[in-house]
Amino acid sequence: MTDRTPKRRFRSRDWFADPARADMTALYLERFMNYGLTPAELRDGRPIIGIAQSGSDLAPCNRIHLDLARRVRDGIRDAGGIPIEFPVHPIFENCRRPTAALDRNLSYLTLTELLYGYPLDAVVLTTGCDKTTPAAIMAASTVDIPAIVLSGGPMLDGWHEGELVGSGTVIWRSRRKLAAGEISEDEFLDRACDSAPSAGHCNTMGTASTMNSIAEALGMALPGCAMIPAPYRERGQMAYETGRRIVDMAYEDLRPSAILTRESFLNAIRLLTAIGGSSNAQPHIMAMARHAGVDLAPRDLTDHGYDLPLLANVQPAGEYLGERFHRAGGVPAVLWELLQAGKLDGDCLTCTGRTIAENIEPCESRDREVIRPFGDPLMEKAGYLALSGNLFDLGILKSSVISDEFRRRYLSRPGAQGVFEGRAIVFDGSDDYHHRINDPALAIDEDCILVMRGAGPIGWPGSAEVVNMQPPDALLRRGIAWLPTLGDGRQSGTSDSPSILNVSPESAVGGGLSWLRTGDVIRVDLNVGTCDALVDAAEIARRGAEAPPLLPESHSPWEELFREKSGQLADGAALEFALKYRGIAARTPRH
Ligand code: FES
Ligand code: MG
Repeated sequence: MTDRTPKRRFRSRDWFADPARADMTALYLERFMNYGLTPAELRDGRPIIGIAQSGSDLAPCNRIHLDLARRVRDGIRDAGGIPIEFPVHPIFENCRRPTAALDRNLSYLTLTELLYGYPLDAVVLTTGCDKTTPAAIMAASTVDIPAIVLSGGPMLDGWHEGELVGSGTVIWRSRRKLAAGEISEDEFLDRACDSAPSAGHCNTMGTASTMNSIAEALGMALPGCAMIPAPYRERGQMAYETGRRIVDMAYEDLRPSAILTRESFLNAIRLLTAIGGSSNAQPHIMAMARHAGVDLAPRDLTDHGYDLPLLANVQPAGEYLGERFHRAGGVPAVLWELLQAGKLDGDCLTCTGRTIAENIEPCESRDREVIRPFGDPLMEKAGYLALSGNLFDLGILKSSVISDEFRRRYLSRPGAQGVFEGRAIVFDGSDDYHHRINDPALAIDEDCILVMRGAGPIGWPGSAEVVNMQPPDALLRRGIAWLPTLGDGRQSGTSDSPSILNVSPESAVGGGLSWLRTGDVIRVDLNVGTCDALVDAAEIARRGAEAPPLLPESHSPWEELFREKSGQLADGAALEFALKYRGIAARTPRH
């Protein structure tokens, strides 16, 4: 246990033991008494530890935290802290309309205000569903009080008729089967329900598992925390240990600013490749880094992650699900592979007070089918490729999910290795796509690229996961299950073809997609990372002078404010004005 002299005076003292304003103490204290706390507990100098509760009935992916909080409290009490649990703005990825992407920044803003404005000395960030993790880390960075991530963990592995069915992946695969007439709507629903067999978040390496794994790689969670399935007994034990540890962190004054460095973010980028993590990690990594004041560019994803191999055999890039990944050793075992290969900066400080290398050593995979050795990976060069060209400054492509068939069909043409061209079919939002995808007049064939625009942070608003478009039914019936896609929105799940995602700047702010027309030829060169429409400069200028596309109106106050303040996906779609507030807990709010 850490020395019980706080390295820095606990800020809660300014509420409960401020000699200059003794008249205020009673007011600050008295209402906490009404549920049985005693004045001594809040006044005898122990740290007050927030538990930022992200679970609720409205946030089922994180709901396990309602139970886990009891074990967190036990840990905090045993280590000599006072727990104070409070709700954070819920985010439920699959259900929030028009898109949960609006709420990462809202959750960030509100949590920032709570951590700043109340007498909290340190905080346990309970995370799970996709955006709950980056939102919490962004807020902890802005306030900069000691903070530790407690993941809720994925659901148990899903099974349907003897086959593994993973969250999200089951939906995209079943949709194709439904469209091709292979399954009924009832069967679709059965498969989806079977993919969700317990408490927890998505059991695939979707955004939730990705972001919790990244939190661990950043050093913000105890080793092994990310992937313990929610119902496992180890999850409750991890909650207890996390509660204990945050109290020490409060005494040590170990804050996010000491843990979140450029080096720790580069480690996170390396892990992202090795686990085949979600493309949503790109904006979330950027937003977390920028709020932490870390100098990181979207290109760092390619510069530091592209050449690395895929090691985790987990859907959607691989075969298995979270439970088996955890049993194989989870994130520490993957980090261990990277460390052994000299691809991890082992010196990064973590929430344990030790370096990441000290945390994981030795941590060999227990199941080589699921976590492969660095020298015998599932795929070489499996990272994200940053693309640019006349259509956009940044789009990203997840190479680990490009199928062998695509590589054969498009990328292996004699004299044009790694290059493909396609005729653009442009859709203005997903309604337009659904109305027109089966229109025979579009004459969509296997040489087309499906383009989605109007789906970025300002255009949607929030930015929607709608770039993964399936081909017209006629093509599906001919066995063509996918086409290359491109768009200024994001993608959920995966397809087997290259999806060029998160294109920035988006069409709604005049990015290149705004002048693109159906029928234009797009050329993608993966060797040099370019994507251009083969349209000459004079024609681009002529089209650019035409009226810009109409923006849909905002439907809620927050939508309007979000659009006014949000940046582009390339830069994390953060609230740009908020970036200048960092370390605000150093100043006590006025009485
Ligand atoms: Fe919440 Fe996937 S929908 S984790
Ligand atoms: Mg998702």
